[in-house]
Amino acid sequence: MYPSLLRKEKTLAVIGLGYVGLPIALEFARDFRVIGYDIDAVRIAMMQRGEDPSRELGPEEFTGRDIHFSSQLEDLAQAHFFIVAVPTDIDEHKVPNLNPLKKASTDIGSVLKKGDYVVYESTVYPGCTEEDCLPILEKLSGLKMGPDFKLGYSPERINPGDKTKPLTQILKIVSGSDAEALEEIAKIYRHIIEAGIYCASTIKVAEAAKVIENTQRDLNISLMNELAMIFDLMGIDTQEVIKAAGTKWNFLKFYPGLVGGHCIGVDPYYLLHKSVELGYEPQVILSGRRVNDGMPAWVAKKAVQLLLKKGKSPHLAKVLILGITFKENVSDIRNSKVAAMVNELQDFSINVQIADCHANPNEVAKEYNLRLSDNISTGYDAVVVAIGHDEYRKYDSAFFKSIMGENPILMDLKALYEDVEEGIEYWRL
Ligand SMILES: NC(=O)c1ccc[n+]([C@@H]2O[C@H](COP(=O)([O-])OP(=O)(O)OC[C@H]3O[C@@H](n4cnc5c(N)ncnc54)[C@H](O)[C@@H]3O)[C@@H](O)[C@H]2O)c1
Repeated sequence: MYPSLLRKEKTLAVIGLGYVGLPIALEFARDFRVIGYDIDAVRIAMMQRGEDPSRELGPEEFTGRDIHFSSQLEDLAQAHFFIVAVPTDIDEHKVPNLNPLKKASTDIGSVLKKGDYVVYESTVYPGCTEEDCLPILEKLSGLKMGPDFKLGYSPERINPGDKTKPLTQILKIVSGSDAEALEEIAKIYRHIIEAGIYCASTIKVAEAAKVIENTQRDLNISLMNELAMIFDLMGIDTQEVIKAAGTKWNFLKFYPGLVGGHCIGVDPYYLLHKSVELGYEPQVILSGRRVNDGMPAWVAKKAVQLLLKKGKSPHLAKVLILGITFKENVSDIRNSKVAAMVNELQDFSINVQIADCHANPNEVAKEYNLRLSDNISTGYDAVVVAIGHDEYRKYDSAFFKSIMGENPILMDLKALYEDVEEGIEYWRL
């Protein structure tokens, strides 16, 4: 497969061109012939014009690449090596939503040919590729995995917003349905990944490795969130505690915060789902999730306590929230826990205004029914800096004083500010 792709006798397709799929497709399109396939025709039209709908890549990343963007099945049918990077979110009951994965498998199955390869990159629970996706491929194609086509799984580890670690500089795990598949898939990925390839022993190992990377992070943050709640009762600054404890060589530096987004707060539910299906209800993973999901309400309660302490009635208070994206320096607002915190504050009848220099106001309105303010005004009783966008790091005490009224309160959820001037009630997570 690898030599044929390199000679452009065969074509590689990436299915699902979001944060994960588009960078991979464009990277392969430096030397391979690529079809970028997505069901969203609006997004396809943007990419055809050299625009990244996720606003991560600039137009220069599209130039000189051998890629054809399409939402047509007949274009997908030209490919022989398929990479699937469709979303794997959860529904309102926190149950994995496999519909995009099943739809992508149906599309691929309907055009699969003898000798083809299918590699999944979407984050899933161990077993999903072989137990949920493979049967669809086999049924739709009438082919058998092994003699007719090969299967693989290669999880994605990109970190949107982090320009220091592009796709090619992140070591990539690959796996295959047999030794031949693994070797071929590794060769193909090695072509673009400069950081190197790790060959996992099985597809399930590769699936599990990805899901525990994020589960571990979720749990570590949940421990820090729990500690932050305890230390708050004790009147101890959690950041100072982490700084002190961090002087030990084997202390892991994690920080408290709102865990939103589509990975860390979501992936543990995939593992949980499969585990429960097999008869074991995880204790540790679930309790970590509960702590993290409870943080928006806890921070909102803290805000109310601070308002009351400063003699302000919540129903008369005007509070500014800075940042609603799921993390710093990105425009992605999916699963924003800031939005959940805003809802909690509004439940106390607080007049909440939100500003974010990266988020798209239309997306925020559509997703959360919340309005982003065009400008930061004045007279706020409290400001909650929720997301650590670089732009907010530049603010100082004079700025906060200039936009707040009497007895101002600054809640710094990302611990961005040191030496905040007296006269501002400063609280940080
Ligand atoms: N974003 C990240 O930082 C990140 C990092 C590592 C892993 N992942 C995982 O990668 C996968 C993709 O995530 P993402 O953030 O790129 O998603 P995304 O929402 O940014 O993009 C998904 C794209 O897939 C398209 N799509 C949906 N269903 C489709 C279908 N059936 N056929 C073709 N296209 C379809 C959508 O239109 C969209 O363009 C998920 O499993 C996610 O958990 C994401």
